[in-house]
Amino acid sequence: MSAIILSLALFSVLPRVSGHSAFWHPSMFGFNVTDKTFPYDNRPVAPIKNMPFSQWWFHNHLDFPPNAGDIFELPAGKPATAEIACNKGATSYFASSEGGDIRDKNNPNNVCPNSSSEAYHTKGLDDLEGCALAIAYKNDVRAVQPEDFTVFSVNQTCVWTRFTDFQVPARMPPCPEGGCICSFFWIHSPKSGGEENYMNGFKCNVTGSTSNFAVAKSKVARRCGSDPENGKTQTAPANCTYGAKTPFYWFNNERNNMFEGTFSPPVYNDRYNFLDGAQDDIFIDSYLSIPNPAPNAAMPILADVSAKNPIPTTFNTSTPDHACTSTSNANTDSDYSNSYKRDMSDVYKRGGTRSFAFMEMSKRSRRLNIHRRERLWNIW
Ligand SMILES: *[C@@H]1O[C@H](CO)[C@@H](O)[C@H](O)[C@H]1NC(C)=O
Ligand SMILES: *[C@@H]1O[C@H](CO)[C@@H](O)[C@H](O)[C@H]1NC(C)=O
Ligand SMILES: *[C@@H]1O[C@H](CO)[C@@H](O)[C@H](O)[C@H]1NC(C)=O
Ligand SMILES: *[C@@H]1O[C@H](CO)[C@@H](O)[C@H](O)[C@H]1NC(C)=O
Ligand SMILES: *[C@@H]1O[C@H](CO)[C@@H](O)[C@H](O)[C@H]1NC(C)=O
Ligand SMILES: *[C@@H]1O[C@H](CO)[C@@H](O)[C@H](O)[C@H]1NC(C)=O
Repeated sequence: MSAIILSLALFSVLPRVSGHSAFWHPSMFGFNVTDKTFPYDNRPVAPIKNMPFSQWWFHNHLDFPPNAGDIFELPAGKPATAEIACNKGATSYFASSEGGDIRDKNNPNNVCPNSSSEAYHTKGLDDLEGCALAIAYKNDVRAVQPEDFTVFSVNQTCVWTRFTDFQVPARMPPCPEGGCICSFFWIHSPKSGGEENYMNGFKCNVTGSTSNFAVAKSKVARRCGSDPENGKTQTAPANCTYGAKTPFYWFNNERNNMFEGTFSPPVYNDRYNFLDGAQDDIFIDSYLSIPNPAPNAAMPILADVSAKNPIPTTFNTSTPDHACTSTSNANTDSDYSNSYKRDMSDVYKRGGTRSFAFMEMSKRSRRLNIHRRERLWNIW
């Protein structure tokens, strides 16, 4: 109780800077939108919820495009550093901010100077749920549909530092002429604020590309990690969506793809198989097979793309070929569905690790490992 009174008191004496957070860059749509531009507060940092499609899509900033030539570069195989802050004045772009420079001189990484971390919806380092960058291989923003976006990079410790690195997958193919369309997506922890989406669209371009394999058609991410706070102590790896995944569209009035409740928001981390860093398995040649996900389905088989050619698995392929027994309706239009499918339950039995399908998940992210392809759900 006294802690609440104290924090309320502190809050009232601190200058009211701002709250929430946005991705800031001159390549973004809505770069100069202030709280006066719209009849309602539609600054890029304002959260999105309970809105019709026209109002939430691209934050309703499509009429506020970046200046010609302003583009956010995505160097294939390297990190791209974004600036995420609760106010434009806390970023390198303070000069065009209504409040001027409010950067923290003592801590350039401060997301929200003179505010507690609750202003950007986290109670601390262990209460971060991650954020994502998604890409659409289209150069016309008006042609981009929600289903066109694929998440290509995740930072699970976002939003915590103003300068946030997003690893760009090494195999990102080049963008069409004029570049691609990207967007920042974030849904914060339920412990520090209500249900909200964040979306900031921007123009982007892949540089240093060395691959021409396209990004696969993205699919809705399924909930498959443990969630002890909601009574789910075990993971269900075979229930995950593998490969290219669509961002979360949640809690709006139209075109949602997620329907989770207030206290179990969809999040960009292992709980939805969004591994930390580059999403290296989003390409059309990333998998030999992706069975329809379900808690008891077969696991997918990663392709060895380093060999440029799928190499045969080390599993005993003379085992009888079981039909996929999954009843899930997802993935039926899979780009991979013509690759061979095999019930791999025998593989786990053989290895004596059948129970691995129900392991506890740690906070640390898994990694894809082509040399241990039978264990997509590696944890260390
Ligand atoms: C944003 O405002 C600054 C300062 O007025 C201006 O130089 C810049 O061109 C504007 N950018 C856009 C995209 O409107
Ligand atoms: C933030 O706090 C510092 C020290 O308390 C103060 O000097 C500074 O003016 C404040 N900045 C803003 C933007 O209010
Ligand atoms: C997330 O961003 C932080 C801050 O820039 C960085 O230290 C960290 O390495 C990034 N995580 C990944 C997986 O790139
Ligand atoms: C995108 O990057 C490629 C490779 O560096 C370059 O050739 C192309 O001109 C860039 N496109 C834009 C719109 O910047
Ligand atoms: C499997 O995924 C679905 C869709 O996200 C979810 O509703 C269900 O709870 C998940 N089941 C398990 C056991 O993880
Ligand atoms: C593969 O499985 C078949 C049938 O179960 C068995 O006869 C054969 O010896 C196995 N081969 C290898 C290399 O394990």
